[in-house]
This record gives sequence, structure tokens and C-alpha cells, in this order.
Amino acid sequence: MEETGKKVIFSGIQPSGNLTIGNYLGALKNWVKLQDEYDCYYCVVDLHAITARQEPKDLRRRTLEILAIYLAAGLDPEKNTMFIQSHVSAHTEAAWLLNCNTYVGELSRMTQYKTKSSKFGNDTSISAGLLNYPVLMASDILLYQTDLVPVGLDQKQHLELTRNIAERFNNAYSPTFKIPEPYIPKEGSKIMDLQEPLKKMSKSSENPNSFILLMDPPEVIKKKISRAVTDSIGIVKYSDEQPGVKNLMNILNTLTGESFDCIEKKYAGKGYAEFKEDVATAIINEFEPIQNKVEMILADKTNLEKIYKAGAEKANYIANKTLRKMQKKIGFIPVSK
Ligand code: TYM
Repeated sequence: MEETGKKVIFSGIQPSGNLTIGNYLGALKNWVKLQDEYDCYYCVVDLHAITARQEPKDLRRRTLEILAIYLAAGLDPEKNTMFIQSHVSAHTEAAWLLNCNTYVGELSRMTQYKTKSSKFGNDTSISAGLLNYPVLMASDILLYQTDLVPVGLDQKQHLELTRNIAERFNNAYSPTFKIPEPYIPKEGSKIMDLQEPLKKMSKSSENPNSFILLMDPPEVIKKKISRAVTDSIGIVKYSDEQPGVKNLMNILNTLTGESFDCIEKKYAGKGYAEFKEDVATAIINEFEPIQNKVEMILADKTNLEKIYKAGAEKANYIANKTLRKMQKKIGFIPVSK
């Protein structure tokens, strides 16, 4: 298996819902920019998705759709290792070993765990998977000796925990893992909910007007943006007092590169209608070519299978090398060949 000498990138998206513009701007768009310079592993993290109950047929459909979106957004299967997490069993094996080097206290302090588990109220039926989720994420990252992890801002805390777990293991057993760095874009790292702009946009939200999906048709995008909550101030200004407008400006800036200053000047004295129309147009211009390609890619199941099989082969080889190292250091008896 070829070793490139390039720095390593690992990232993934859960097939727990349809991809939003938040996933695209916070993660996927940046992955495409990094593929020439780095040795990249881009995964569809299906094992993570089952921390919430998934309808099997939806999980299957979304897993392949996300892979197709990776390709349609411009990730080249010749340059990147693209695979499905459950095809590389080292992820779950390593997660157990790391679990034994992780404290329940640090897991229960994770913001995402607190938010998700609070929805259960006094009910004690929170899955252990929800608590252990960041350990599986640490395993994903550490198995590939990753240098950089391109993610949105919401994953920063999980990255910090990954670094702590890696350092703890390295100190206990001698250096085993590279300590990864987060790669969080300056723009687009936190796209907000269109209806409640103080909340992060999420693919698992119950209100479809709160998010734009990568696969939303143009007329739906126009409708959702026109309904996006703004304020009664009526001035297009980049300000914390106007979180709805600020969010739309962030989206426009990330898609078109227009500065906030420029956007403010362009819509001065014009209210919100024209501004919103232009935001919708910018999204449509970005998404339409991707959407057309997704349909074509999904229609060719043989090619898709070829890509995820080749990805799993390379990923298995690299991941197992690290897993064997972990097992040996812990004191397990190696299987003789
Ligand atoms: P997930 O599936 O929730 O989100 C995928 C990526 O999209 C980013 N993101 C956002 N960025 C900006 N604004 C938003 N509103 C927004 N919502 C989501 C996320 O930060 C993420 O980069 N735990 C991860 C998946 C994962 C992973 C990994 C990532 C599993 N193992 C290893 C990196 C490395 C997650 O749930 O992402």
C-alpha cells in the first residue's frame, strides 16, 4: 500500500439525516479544497448515526447518498480514500481500547451529550452509545495517525477530548498516536437555524423551515430563505443584535466571497427582500450542479460500490496497522500467522 508522505486528514459526516447547508459550508466545501495537498480519509460515519434510532432503509439510502454527495461536491476517488465506517471493524475495536482510557466524567461533560440527553428528561433510557460517541470519534481520527481534522465549530470540543485521550494513551504506553489538530474554517463554521438563529442549524431538527438541505429543489430554497427569521430593524448589517441577518450574511459571504462591508453597502436602504433573493440565488447556484451530479452517481451503483470497496481496503490496511500497535502495547498476545 502506497505511503504518500503527505500530512493526513480525516473527517466524516453522519447519515442520521439529509445533509444541510451547515454540513456543506462547515465541512464538505473545505474538504474539496484540501484534497490535493493532503492524504485525505473521508468517511460516512454510519456507526455514529445509530446513537439515535434509524429506520434501516433510510440509513441505507442516506449512507449511499452521502457518498454520492461527496463525489458530486468534487471529491476525487483517485485522490481521496472514501469509505463507510462500518466496513472497517478496527474503528469499533479501537474504540473499546480507548474507552478503557476515557473517564465517564469527561464524557458526561460534553456539550453535545448534555443537549441530546436532556431531551430524555428524567427518563433513564439514554443509550450508552450517546455517551461513548466521542470515543468512537477519537478512534476514527487516531487510527489514521491524522494531522488535521476539518470540521465545523460544534465538533471542537470532541477534538479536544480526542487529543486528551491520545495524550493519555501515549503517556501510559509510549508514543502511539499523532496528536491531531482541528481545522475549523473562519467562515461557515457555524451556520445557524433559519427559524431560531441563536441555535445551530441541524439536520435532525423537526422543523424543515429551519434548515436548507443540499438536495432541496430551487423553489424550496427560495421559500425557506424568504421565510427565514430576521428582525424589524430592516437594515442589512453584520451585528450580533441581528442574528438572523448575520447568519444570512455569513452564508452569502461563504458562498460568494463578498465581504460583509460590501454586502452592507449593496443593500443599504433596500430592506430585506432583495437581499434574501440574492442569498437564495447564491445557494441555488452552488447546489444545482451538485444535485444534478448526485442523481447520476446514485444511478450507477456498480461504480459507487467500486469506490467504497477500494476505500475500505485502503482504510482497513492503515487502521489495522495502528490497531495492532495499540494491542501490542496494551499486552495482548498477537495472533501468529
Ligand atoms: P455531523 O454529521 O453532525 O456534521 C458533519 C460536519 O458538519 C459540520 N456541521 C456544521 N458546520 C457549520 N454549521 C452547522 N450548522 C453545522 N452542522 C454540522 C460538523 O461540524 C461536521 O464537521 N461527530 C461528527 C462526525 C464524525 C467525525 C469523526 C468528524 C464522526 N467521526 C471524525 C470528524 C472526524 C458529527 O456528528 O458530524
